Amino acid sequence: MALVTSNLKKEMSFLTAVSEAFKRTDGNSAFVVLNAETSEILAIKRGAPLVAGLHEANSDASVSSDPYALVGSSETIYFPGDEVLVLLSKRNNDIISFFELDGSESKNYKSKQQEMSLEATDKGDFEHFMLKEIYEQPGLIRDLVQFYLAGEGAELLTKVSALKPEKFHISACGTAAYAGMVIRDFIEHRNRIPCAVELASEFRYRNPLLREGEVGLFISQSGETADTLAAQGLCVENKMKTISIVNVEGSTLYRDCDENLLIRAGIEIGVASTKAFTQQALTGCLLSYALAGDLTSEEKKKEIADKYSLLAERIDDILSRVDELKKIAEEIYNYNGFFFTGRGQYFPVALEGALKLKEIAYVHAEGYASGELKHGPIALIDDQMVNIAIVGPKLFDKTISNIQEIKARRGVIVGLGPKGESDLDDICDFKFDLNFDGLGELSPLYVNVANQLLAYYMAKFKGTDIDKPRNLAKSVTVE
Ligand code: G6P
Repeated sequence: MALVTSNLKKEMSFLTAVSEAFKRTDGNSAFVVLNAETSEILAIKRGAPLVAGLHEANSDASVSSDPYALVGSSETIYFPGDEVLVLLSKRNNDIISFFELDGSESKNYKSKQQEMSLEATDKGDFEHFMLKEIYEQPGLIRDLVQFYLAGEGAELLTKVSALKPEKFHISACGTAAYAGMVIRDFIEHRNRIPCAVELASEFRYRNPLLREGEVGLFISQSGETADTLAAQGLCVENKMKTISIVNVEGSTLYRDCDENLLIRAGIEIGVASTKAFTQQALTGCLLSYALAGDLTSEEKKKEIADKYSLLAERIDDILSRVDELKKIAEEIYNYNGFFFTGRGQYFPVALEGALKLKEIAYVHAEGYASGELKHGPIALIDDQMVNIAIVGPKLFDKTISNIQEIKARRGVIVGLGPKGESDLDDICDFKFDLNFDGLGELSPLYVNVANQLLAYYMAKFKGTDIDKPRNLAKSVTVE
């Protein structure tokens, strides 16, 4: 700002003063500068999120790092490119105008109509956004399948599957990376296309083997995570096509990828991601169906729609039994540590369950593949350690024997598993019954809702700031 002020003192115009100051900065950043004398605002960015919004009838314009912040105040959203000056001024005919650094007019921006209403940013009767977002999941699943099988989404899936990748490089951060693991399982199982899943923060520095003909698949709620964007850039440098599975339409990832699959989760306000995870994984599953050519058959489409609506129904059932999970949370929230365990398709949701708990309850939690416990972590098991054991119908006996090893060391067992299995019921200290029948590959997304609610209620008993947990940001736009 000192640079801008000193430029203004040299009699430069406001636009030139900001532009000359910005030219002297390095790295990724976004600046918003208010000229107190004229009430004009100039905003500019490089490699960081910046959006502008306009409400023409009210003659109102705003800037923000996030399009969701403009819901209710803007009808049109503008996404400027890097190094484009956005001028907000009531002195011009156009309240918002765009300029290059040399002062000439710029066309380097995109715009779209705001589709969200203020209602979407309201908690309604829920105590926290996170809880509201957990409850939105069944409805969102039903909408997603409609959009992709019977709506505009069908064309998006056709375009993406036309890329015919030889291999997918899936890259993302946090919860989105775990959704990536679930998607890998869908694609490798159904399409037999190899998928490498990697944390974006590692991928970009590892000199990975990337070839033309392979496709980068990037998963993100915000579409603004710095490491994910850098991983996408690396794939582009290697002449690969890139696809996003993303929530925020118009975000940087959305604009930078060749094709995009929107997850249609609506605004996610809780910092700990819940509904976005479910929608990301389910969008990836639809991609696997599209790649298999299944979406050309009406019969197959009906089968898929039925499967998605069964998942929505089963999640509704978990939500109707929330008091059972709340009770379990009350019994266990004061223990020292938590191991979430699962095998095969449940391993990614064991990781996600542990992440949710760490994020919002500030307790030590780890996600582990059940079979790996004996290779080290079992040394930590004692009567102060809780094992949240995800037990699906597959590999049931093997998973039970892993739980027995924990039980033998006095660990507290919370079973999330099928009803009426006495082997499981007998070793659980607490049990939440699940009905996996007919869910098949979608089962992890079902049990994950129980994990989300356990984390939510444990955090509530601990009295933490659930929607805005300490030290965390919803979008991590720095490395
Ligand atoms: C942050 C958030 C996580 C999220 C991760 C990736 O760490 O707190 O909830 O999973 O970023 O964000 P993205 O927007 O790329 O999905």
